[in-house]
Amino acid sequence: MQVNIPLKQVVDNSYDITIDALQKRTYDAKVAIITNPKVAGLHLSYLLSKIEAKELYIITVPDGETYKNQDSIDLILESLFNHRFNRKSLLIAFGGGVIGDMTGYASSIYQRGIDFVQIPTTLLSQVDASVGGKTGINNSYGKNLIGAFHQPRAVYIDPHFLETLPAREFGAGVAEVVKMAVTFNADFFEYLEAADLNDKESLQEAIKQAVQTKAGVVAQDEKEHGLRAALNYGHTFGHVIENETGYTKYLHGEAVAIGMVIANTLAVKLGLMSEDEASRIKNVLQKYKLPTTYKIQNSEKFYDAFFLDKKSSDASITFILPVGIGGVKITDSVDKETVLEVLESFGK
Ligand code: NAD
Ligand code: GLY
Repeated sequence: MQVNIPLKQVVDNSYDITIDALQKRTYDAKVAIITNPKVAGLHLSYLLSKIEAKELYIITVPDGETYKNQDSIDLILESLFNHRFNRKSLLIAFGGGVIGDMTGYASSIYQRGIDFVQIPTTLLSQVDASVGGKTGINNSYGKNLIGAFHQPRAVYIDPHFLETLPAREFGAGVAEVVKMAVTFNADFFEYLEAADLNDKESLQEAIKQAVQTKAGVVAQDEKEHGLRAALNYGHTFGHVIENETGYTKYLHGEAVAIGMVIANTLAVKLGLMSEDEASRIKNVLQKYKLPTTYKIQNSEKFYDAFFLDKKSSDASITFILPVGIGGVKITDSVDKETVLEVLESFGK
C-alpha cells in the first residue's frame, strides 16, 4: 500500500532589488537588525533614521569570516527566542556578505523559516551576496558547507554605504562585477573598460548591471542545477589560493581575480578565448589594483586541492571557462595534462 502526498506547487518567491538612497520603511512587526560592531559604528544611526517597527531590536555578532559559524547563529536565534519573535517577525541583514549569509540562514531555520531583508553595505555584497538567496555558514570542513536557499523579501542597495569601505574591500567587490560581465555580458564588460568605478554615477550603473545579470541567472536556475554554477568563474582556482594562503593573505575577491586570470589562461589554451581578450580582462582587474599573479609552488598539489571544492566530485573537476568575453562554458572534461601545463606556467 502506498500513500501519495501531492506536493507539486508553484511558489512565487519574486522580490525587488532597489538601488537607490534608502527610503523610510515602516514594519507592522517585530524586527531585528543583524549587524556587527564595525558596520553599526559607521552606519547604524543612519539606518535607524529610516526604519520604524512595532518593536525593533539590534543583534550584534563579531565581525569577520571566522565568526560566520554556528556560534553566531546560536547567538542570533537565542536573542530571537528571548524577544519572542514569531513567524510574522522580520530580520534585516545589515552588513557585508558575512552578515547577509548568516542572517539569511538564521531566518531560514528560525521557526522553520521567517522573512528577511538584505541591506548590503560592501560592494561585494551589493553586487553578488545579497542577491539570489544563498545563505549559510562555514564549519571545520570548509566554507559555506551548511546552509539553505532562502530568498530575501527585498534587497535595498544604497551605494552611500560604500563611501566608508576600504579600497581593498572595494577592489574585491569589483572582481565579482568583472566576473558577471565576462561570463554573461560583453557590452557590460566594454562599459567596465571605459568607466572609472570610483565615480559615483559609473559605480551605480555598474551595480545595476551586475545585479541585473545575477538576477537573470538566478531566475533561470535558482538552486544551481546548471547555469548558476557559471557565477563560480575564477572560484575553482581562487578557493585553492585562499586555502593555500590560510585565508589571510587575500580577500575572497582578490583570490577570485587571480582565479579568473588562471581560468582565462586555460581558456586561451583550449581555444575558447583569444590572448587579447585575456589581457583586456587583466587590464580591468589591474585598474582596481587587484592581484593578477600567483606563484604556484607545486602544480600536482594545487590540482589535488580542486577535489576539496564542493563543486567537484571524486571523479571530475568542474571548470567554469569564459568563451570569449560575454560567454561561458561549464565543463568537467578538461584533461589533467592541460590543466597541469597551465598551472606550471604560473610556477615560473
Ligand atoms: P564581509 O562581510 O566580511 O565584509 C568585509 C569587511 O568590511 C568586514 O570587516 C565588514 O565589517 C566591513 N564593512 C562592511 N560594510 C562596510 C562599510 N560600509 N564600510 C566599512 N567597512 C564595512 O565580506 P564581504 O566581502 O562583504 O562578503 C564576503 C562573504 O560573502 C563571504 O562569507 C562569502 O562566502 C559570502 N558570499 C556569499 C554569496 C552569496 O551568494 N550568498 C556570494 C558571494 C560571497
Ligand atoms: N556567488 C555565486 C552564487 O550566488 O551563485
